[in-house]
Amino acid sequence: MGKTSHLISPLNHSHDVGAFACHHKPLETFLKRHALKNAANNLGRTYALTEAGSQSVVGYYTLSATGVSRGMIPGHEFLPRYDPMPALLLGRLAVDDKRRGFGYGRSLVGHAFARAWEASLLAGIYLLAVDAKDEEARAFYIHTGFVEFGDTPLHLFFPMSSIVSMLQPPMGSSQN
Ligand SMILES: CC(C)(COP(=O)(O)OP(=O)(O)OC[C@H]1O[C@@H](n2cnc3c(N)ncnc32)[C@H](O)[C@@H]1OP(=O)(O)O)[C@@H](O)C(=O)NCCC(=O)NCCS
Repeated sequence: MGKTSHLISPLNHSHDVGAFACHHKPLETFLKRHALKNAANNLGRTYALTEAGSQSVVGYYTLSATGVSRGMIPGHEFLPRYDPMPALLLGRLAVDDKRRGFGYGRSLVGHAFARAWEASLLAGIYLLAVDAKDEEARAFYIHTGFVEFGDTPLHLFFPMSSIVSMLQPPMGSSQN
């Protein structure tokens, strides 16, 4: 079985998280025990990926507001003197063990980019940050275009300006 048509939406009580399995247990536990509570307490939003016709969650990611020390950003000498710089944190990202390699991870990151852009229209957001939990996760994020802050290899970001360029068609181009 491969990737099927799917939906990504804010996690809510109608989603079924019972079957979600991730070899990295904290990511499984977070979805099952903490994700809805965090949303209710305005600590973070979880977005759930479900396949067509099912409420079973097969992937998810979380977003929350954060700030990044200006001095950590490459080229900070040329940035305005806001410190910390406003940012969004892609805090957790996981795909069910049996659904890896079907493109769902990339879909979730693409969805996070679109949400980050929307959020940046309501409040300034300079970049989307991630803390990769290990070398394998880091390799995935690098593959999807994230770059290093430079403090530790696992701390990565995607500039909002690059997200906007990716999502916004150039002026004058046709959407047909
Ligand atoms: C990392 C993870 C989310 C990727 O999800 P996935 O659905 O398997 O990834 P996709 O199928 O969407 O892969 C998208 C692209 O990334 C590449 N990719 C996937 N995992 C990769 C890895 N570990 N390193 C490098 N590239 C990777 C794929 O080859 C694919 O490349 P292509 O589109 O150019 O062909 C998933 O493996 C996972 O849940 N891992 C455990 C939890 C984790 O590490 N989460 C990261 C949070 S810190």
